Amino acid sequence: MKRILILNGSPRKNGKTASLIKAFTEGAETSGNEVRNLYISEMDIKGCIACEACSQNGGNCIQKDDMIQVNEAVEWAEVIVFASPMYWGIITGQLKIVIDRLYAECNKLGWKGFNKETALIMTARGDYYQQSLDFYSIFTDMMKWKNWGTVLGAGKEKEAYAIGASIN
Ligand SMILES: Cc1cc2nc3c(=O)[nH]c(=O)nc-3n(C[C@H](O)[C@H](O)[C@H](O)COP(=O)(O)O)c2cc1C
Repeated sequence: MKRILILNGSPRKNGKTASLIKAFTEGAETSGNEVRNLYISEMDIKGCIACEACSQNGGNCIQKDDMIQVNEAVEWAEVIVFASPMYWGIITGQLKIVIDRLYAECNKLGWKGFNKETALIMTARGDYYQQSLDFYSIFTDMMKWKNWGTVLGAGKEKEAYAIGASIN
């Protein structure tokens, strides 16, 4: 049983990404995992300003916004799932901002201490996911996070359910 945090980067609460998230959550919960969902679009999270304060002060971001809630959930979670529609080849700006801001958590927990597992859920109108996968690997390889799998494409609820259920 794992604690799973899903970061939903879609602005559409009942959209195609949300449908995959629902299936993934059902699968994960069936296997006894605990799932928390954060709907980033509703949160007030500003972009990283590269002040590097967090690298000098033990990882405390000077921007006091809703990223505090994300960080608390990230610290709670053992698995972090990135879920997003594709916008211009990669994840949405909303989710990218959250990932940028995780830089402070890297400084707080240390690059080795920030040890999570992960999965990726994405939807798009087309089927070109390579750029998104490259971005995902740049981040998760650097962090050395175990990848439970990627669900790429609207309508793949069964796949999403199966990956969620495989987590233990
Ligand atoms: C600003 C914007 C950019 C998009 N860029 C792409 C793209 O580069 N490639 C693609 O296949 N679909 C693109 N789409 C389509 C969405 O990825 C697709 O409709 C997605 O499934 C929507 O997910 P949602 O229902 O969770 O909002 C774009 C949509 C928007 C609004």
